[in-house]
Amino acid sequence: MIRAPFIPSPREAIKKALELLCLRKDDVFYDLGCGNGEVVVEAAKKGATAVGIEIDPYLAEVAREKIRENHLSDRAYIIEANFFLVDLSNATAIYSYLYRSINESLAPKFEKELRIGTRIVTLDFPIPDWIPIRVERFMDSMNRVRTLFLYIIGISNPSSLTREPRIYDYKRILRITRCIQ
Ligand SMILES: C[S@@+](CC[C@H](N)C(=O)[O-])C[C@H]1O[C@@H](n2cnc3c(N)ncnc32)[C@H](O)[C@@H]1O
Repeated sequence: MIRAPFIPSPREAIKKALELLCLRKDDVFYDLGCGNGEVVVEAAKKGATAVGIEIDPYLAEVAREKIRENHLSDRAYIIEANFFLVDLSNATAIYSYLYRSINESLAPKFEKELRIGTRIVTLDFPIPDWIPIRVERFMDSMNRVRTLFLYIIGISNPSSLTREPRIYDYKRILRITRCIQ
């Protein structure tokens, strides 16, 4: 499989992505392929438990150092691993800046492991065949058009369209849809 190289998200993208995710203190946030840990640090600053998964040992160490420098070790940490092999079932919010084909390969894992109401924001590359509930376009500081896609498990993923509705599942979805209006 193609491995996305390290290209950091622009600062504006990080800010907007975390706003779209409506992070709160009770969230468990993951950055899949966290690179230098910038996104993890910004998520932890918002009070969430923030986890970065990074396959490159050097970047994982850079990210750990960034967490220490920002005194966020009480709620942010890095897992040095292939994200395909990490259980994501405790996630409530996920960020990824990866290729479309990688998002496509991650989709079955998301469907299997993530709970109803979990939010996913991807930068520039959508999850094929999923329905974003919000698409936000903006120019970054290099005058490049960037796109953020927001997905919610239970609304966006194809299997949710054929599943029996269960009212209690939707409390979590209502909370996030109210926040992003
Ligand atoms: C485009 S960079 C994004 C970095 C960071 N998320 C950001 O937005 O600034 C993609 C990162 O994913 C990492 N990566 C790629 N494939 C991975 C995998 N299978 N498991 C864990 N990390 C991976 C790369 O090493 C790289 O640091």
